[in-house]
Amino acid sequence: MCGIIGIVGKQPVADRLIESLKRLEYRGYDSAGVAGVVGGSNGETRVERRRAKGKIKALEALLAEDPLVASVGIGHTRWATHGAPNVQNAHPQTAGRVTLVHNGIIENFAELKAELAAAGRAFSSDTDTEVIAHLIDAELATGLPPLEAFKATLDRLTGAYALAVLIEGEDNLILGARRGSPLVVGEGQGEMFLGSDALAVGPFTNRVIYLDEGDYVALDHDSHRIFDASGAAVTRPVRVVPTSSVMLEKGNYRHFMEKEIHDQPEGCQRTIAAYVDTLTSKAAVPGDIDFAKLERIQIVACGTSYIAGVVGKYLIEQLADLPVDVEIASEFRYRTPALRPGSLVIAMSQSGETADTLAALRYCKAKGMKSAVVVNAQESTMAREVDVVWPIHCGPEIGVASTKAFTAQVSVMIALAIAAAKARGTIGDAEEQRLVKVLLEAPRLIAEAIGLEDAIKEIAADVAKARDVLYLGRGPMSALALEGALKLKEISYIHAEGYAAGELKHGPIALVDDQTPIVILAPHDSYFEKSASNMSEVMARGGQVIFITDTEGVKHAPAGAKVVVTAPASDPLVSTLVMSAPIQLLAYHVAVVKGADVDQPRNLAKSVTVE
Ligand code: AGP
Repeated sequence: MCGIIGIVGKQPVADRLIESLKRLEYRGYDSAGVAGVVGGSNGETRVERRRAKGKIKALEALLAEDPLVASVGIGHTRWATHGAPNVQNAHPQTAGRVTLVHNGIIENFAELKAELAAAGRAFSSDTDTEVIAHLIDAELATGLPPLEAFKATLDRLTGAYALAVLIEGEDNLILGARRGSPLVVGEGQGEMFLGSDALAVGPFTNRVIYLDEGDYVALDHDSHRIFDASGAAVTRPVRVVPTSSVMLEKGNYRHFMEKEIHDQPEGCQRTIAAYVDTLTSKAAVPGDIDFAKLERIQIVACGTSYIAGVVGKYLIEQLADLPVDVEIASEFRYRTPALRPGSLVIAMSQSGETADTLAALRYCKAKGMKSAVVVNAQESTMAREVDVVWPIHCGPEIGVASTKAFTAQVSVMIALAIAAAKARGTIGDAEEQRLVKVLLEAPRLIAEAIGLEDAIKEIAADVAKARDVLYLGRGPMSALALEGALKLKEISYIHAEGYAAGELKHGPIALVDDQTPIVILAPHDSYFEKSASNMSEVMARGGQVIFITDTEGVKHAPAGAKVVVTAPASDPLVSTLVMSAPIQLLAYHVAVVKGADVDQPRNLAKSVTVE
């Protein structure tokens, strides 16, 4: 969850490092720092650092006062794991001749630190990262050349790392390595780059090499020497990646999240088109999964991706009569689940790098299960380790709160449900074509639902004053209730809970008073009457209900709601896609009213690549 950049360049490097770090800020923003090889007047060179607490702009201000004049350098933007987010714990960390940046967690750092301290080494930070710098420096002190000293250090580390390393005296060299955290090499003209992902090196090159697990690399101006975990020299393919800078601009929007909410019709349309045959209106899911023979699906995911999986469970079981279990990856991987080889594991992940989801996926693969991932980053670690990749095509999602990726993931789940139902014979040709047409219409309905923004903005001012908010729904809307609550709390910092509406009377109804906004998600589907009863129950206790229904439901809604929001009517197959926009917009506008940092909420990061 940190961002790394390294440049072995010929131009001034400080501004380029900053440009890249700004693209990486979504990965963490507790502190930032750069280091570079600075030439002395006497021809001697040294490595200098500049570090600042807080966001990149604090580092920029520092560099304006105290420039770093170098053409080879490294940079880092941090999401704190070990050590408070302050300057002393900011990266780059240094020890002797070694200066480096790190993304990941070194699990055996305490014992290594004790060993180094016993050997007389002093530490200036609380980070696990500083231990790596000392280890390399100690290996160099034995006379080992840089690459061997680096490899000897990597062999002693347990845990996850992506590293970029400078060594004083080695002016034309950056060392890099990855295990459990992503790292790419960017090929330039007489320059080489190292970054956490393709976005990081995007300003400089579109020729990208994705390092494999355990790879390490030596970069100089003209070459990259890559080695695998065994130390053997290897060649990795160079990929030309689309320069997605256009996706990285906010355009006329104030925040990436606002833009990404509005991008959903297009993102879902592009995604759906990759899973259906629009001419024959049949499902056309890529990959060789035989749904007819499949005994069970196990979905593993975190956060919003987990919620997309829950929506998938409802739809796949209902349409295809295929058992689906969905589990929070961080729980799943430690509970010794009873798995069978005849099952399929589907990882759901926007980034494709979430540590808990990756570990759960690997656990299932080790049990002999076929594996798939529903993912946005198509070159991510998960995408490279599964049997089948089911991409979402919504473009890079920068806002930490996931929106367009969520509805794109749900779109894939819907397509899978249709394909599985057809393969298992629970629907025939006519129903398949009907459902595919319903899915193809969803982007238009999403756009209509986004048109509710002004009405939602009105509500936001009130909700922004709340201490607690309750979200209720039934069926797939119970999953959307979880998502609405997650969106609100993660960007506005208001406590919110999502509940299955039927569960209300088993405890949560005690929360209801006239200060608690209660958002009830109730399209006019088979659950509507029950949801309407729940609405009456909470209103009878003074609950302030925000009733989000559709043009059918509004005709039957009980009187007394504080606000009724009317989304376009839709087939139950796609109602979660249509009802997502109102809850996303509500969270967004509440956060704006509260002046919160919408795209980079406190304590969060876009990709949680540590456990
Ligand atoms: C969603 O708004 C959050 N940012 C978070 O829950 C996220 O969905 C979760 O960390 C999973 O990330 P992934 O999809 O990249 O695996």
